[in-house]
Amino acid sequence: MVNSSALMIPLPTRIDRYPAKMISHLADRLVSKYATNATHVLDPFCGSGAVLRAAMAHNIQVTGVDINPFGVLLSSVKVEGFDPKRAHDLLNGILRDSERHKLLPIDWDMKNYWFTPATLEKLESIRAIAYERNLHSSKSGRAVLLSIGLAARLCSKADQRSPKPFISKTARKRRRGKHYSPAPIITSLLNDLSTLYGTRRSVKGKVITCDIGNSDRIRNMEGKCSHAITSPPYINAQDYFRNSKLELYLLEKLIPFSVKNIRDKFIGSERGLDSTVINSERAEIHRKRVPQLLYLEQHKRELAVIVHTYLQRMENAFSATKKSMNSGGTLVVVCGDNLIGGKRIVTWKVLNEILTDLGFILFDSFEDKIRNRAVAPSRCGHKGLIKQEVVSAFRLSECP
Ligand SMILES: C[S@@+](CC[C@H](N)C(=O)[O-])C[C@H]1O[C@@H](n2cnc3c(N)ncnc32)[C@H](O)[C@@H]1O
Repeated sequence: MVNSSALMIPLPTRIDRYPAKMISHLADRLVSKYATNATHVLDPFCGSGAVLRAAMAHNIQVTGVDINPFGVLLSSVKVEGFDPKRAHDLLNGILRDSERHKLLPIDWDMKNYWFTPATLEKLESIRAIAYERNLHSSKSGRAVLLSIGLAARLCSKADQRSPKPFISKTARKRRRGKHYSPAPIITSLLNDLSTLYGTRRSVKGKVITCDIGNSDRIRNMEGKCSHAITSPPYINAQDYFRNSKLELYLLEKLIPFSVKNIRDKFIGSERGLDSTVINSERAEIHRKRVPQLLYLEQHKRELAVIVHTYLQRMENAFSATKKSMNSGGTLVVVCGDNLIGGKRIVTWKVLNEILTDLGFILFDSFEDKIRNRAVAPSRCGHKGLIKQEVVSAFRLSECP
């Protein structure tokens, strides 16, 4: 039975801010079209959990994976639900005890750029008590952590309209000298989360923080998923780390992760590149898949390394996804194109080739019309709008 009311509730930006998130309408369409018979849906790049939420509304068991601990927190609160009374009791205790002026400093040399000294002191005292309470180990605790994480942007000097954190001229003018007290903001966020997710879930679901291409953490899922539905990272179009940095630095230590260990592991970014991991045999395969690499290698070496690394990591990620699926299972991928160093790369086609080589058989595809893409990414080598987004549906061949 479809719990459509859960899908119809619009998620306000202040509690569902995530770069390149899938719109709930598309997530629901993919589940309805390809997965109504699913027993277990995996999203190996779950981000804010749009696919997981849509599958759960169809009473399907879900597993989400993402390298971004903030995305995982956002998804896990959606998937697991929580007890609002317990969460509010926890939060009230933390806010009361944070008056003790004990601090757990945010370990970030840019923190004074983003927060006023008074806001920082309050956040760091809340961190000290939240750390003592080991919030990460319970559902209600995770809801409190999410409220704290979501407060980061609202309490900062950043322009609140922007999907990415930056301090615009307008924000500088409007927010100068203002103090944003974290306690009432965190409390009101928890109120909103309680309204949306504060119920018990009847469907099983879990969300795991890991690098999908290089992880033992999903080994125990071997052959368990009937379906995988996902929108993978593009080549150098989003810097997921940078976009979540306020939340991640604030939540570091409160969730068991370290910024240093994850920041270079995001696929599709220009961080953590190491051209030596790509041997000449692999490089040749990549050049066949993306002929534009020949030009980039000669003229824009740094961009060529980004593309090679992306292809390698995506192949590892899809191999891991394949292992977690039943033979005959369905994989649905939403991806578009990229403009890298002036060359258009049809990323979705390249990913489709990788999947075909891994034993997936394409059985359906359609173009999803792109709306609201008014702002072009303008990062290292990526200067264009994403023009196309294509949904490709595959069946995993029954042969080993
Ligand atoms: C296009 S976004 C997915 C958005 C998601 N569908 C949603 O609705 O929010 C791609 C995701 O891939 C994640 N990602 C990047 N590298 C990863 C890796 N090595 N392992 C797992 N996830 C990764 C990013 O953190 C990001 O959340």
